[in-house]
Amino acid sequence: MLQAVRIKPGDKIKISSGTYQILDEIGSGGFGTVFRAEKDGNLYAIKLNRFWELMPDDRTDLLKRIRLEFEISHGIRSEHIVHSHSYDEICENPVLVMDFCPDGNLRKKIGRIFNNEELRNIAVQILSGLNILHSYEIIHRDIKPENILFRGNIALLTDFGISANLKNRVTQRNIRGHALKVFATLSYSPPEQSQKNIAFRYTGPTNDIFSFGVILYEMITKGCLPFGDITEFGEDTEVIEKRKIQGNWNVNLLEQNTNNRTWIDIIKKCLQPDPGMRFSSVDEVLQEISIEKTGISVRDLRFKLIVLDGPGKGKEFNITNLSHFKNKRILTIGRFDLLNPLINDISLNEGSTTYMSLHHATLECIIKDNIPTWYIRDGQWYVKDDKKGWYLSKNGIKVNDLRIDQSGIELNANDIIRIGKINIKLVPE
Ligand SMILES: Nc1ncnc2c1ncn2[C@@H]1O[C@H](COP(=O)(O)OP(=O)(O)OP(=O)(O)O)[C@@H](O)[C@H]1O
Ligand SMILES: [Mg+2]
Repeated sequence: MLQAVRIKPGDKIKISSGTYQILDEIGSGGFGTVFRAEKDGNLYAIKLNRFWELMPDDRTDLLKRIRLEFEISHGIRSEHIVHSHSYDEICENPVLVMDFCPDGNLRKKIGRIFNNEELRNIAVQILSGLNILHSYEIIHRDIKPENILFRGNIALLTDFGISANLKNRVTQRNIRGHALKVFATLSYSPPEQSQKNIAFRYTGPTNDIFSFGVILYEMITKGCLPFGDITEFGEDTEVIEKRKIQGNWNVNLLEQNTNNRTWIDIIKKCLQPDPGMRFSSVDEVLQEISIEKTGISVRDLRFKLIVLDGPGKGKEFNITNLSHFKNKRILTIGRFDLLNPLINDISLNEGSTTYMSLHHATLECIIKDNIPTWYIRDGQWYVKDDKKGWYLSKNGIKVNDLRIDQSGIELNANDIIRIGKINIKLVPE
């Protein structure tokens, strides 16, 4: 039965992944409370989702999203996504055990002056995390400083695909009709997210790109929000929404705080009221930042794959072009199948044998230090037996004779990738 759960420092909680000693409470958000905890000498962050406070309708929807968040944050090993260890329930309240990020969240850093290098560094890391989520078709929808955590200088995203979906968030008000603390999120969300009739049509990368623009503005202006802050100034939600829809924000304040045109132009484009006028993908924003730093466009660095043997010997796949053309950073590789010729972005022909799986491998381009870097992983993310998940290939992949797994490996120029009995080589153009 669903029941309220009280957890306090000193408590020991026993869940399927073990017994954790609660050290202290890190903080509380809209419907979660996060604790610092210890098990076997390691530190963890445990998030208790206070389901007992939610409406039954919200619970069902939210439970699905929390499970999905767990599967993704457990399955993907990314430098910029907070890793989840286990999922459990205490008295029917979902509990996530995550990596503890010891260096706080971005909120703690906002207020001081960031130099250009620091700004670029944090921005690129947030965008890299978003890029990964978007490639799994997850839109974060709650990008704000509290959900950007730090381990040393590394920024990591948490709480994706969840919070903004709650219906009852927009109904809690204080006696003066002002929104309560959970509405801080409204200062970051794009205008289309609050307009119920159109919200679903516009759910896409542009959603998070808007919030990213708000954060960038906040960092540069030492903590001011472009459309106003409900919590501090008691602003009404409608006033903020109206400003967002009208694109009415204080550009002068931004220009007083920076004379860097790149940041100003990026923010202007991110905060466009019409999602169609914003950057259409995170890569586009990264592109702007890269040109600012190096003077060269990341698109100038191109790679192709050359098939070394089998019936398709000599065939070339320009993966840079392919990913731009298809507007995605993830490319799938698998056996060419006459019945499903378009199932993969890169189909390989191995003749009469079937060592190669239909869904064999995944290539992924991540912008690292402003340089496009390709990774290859065994398996693909797809729907099998009605269940979406990461499924490995039958016979695996080797890169330069080294067997690789789902977590993948960074590719370097001239690497030889063996898939089934076909070898392919990565070459820069
Ligand atoms: N893995 C973690 N390591 C360290 N601190 C964390 C971790 N996860 C969350 N926190 C911190 O715990 C606090 C509470 O997080 P919580 O997600 O419950 O609320 P929030 O992020 O403020 O709002 P929301 O409910 O919209 O996400 C925040 O300050 C957050 O930065
Ligand atoms: Mg959070």
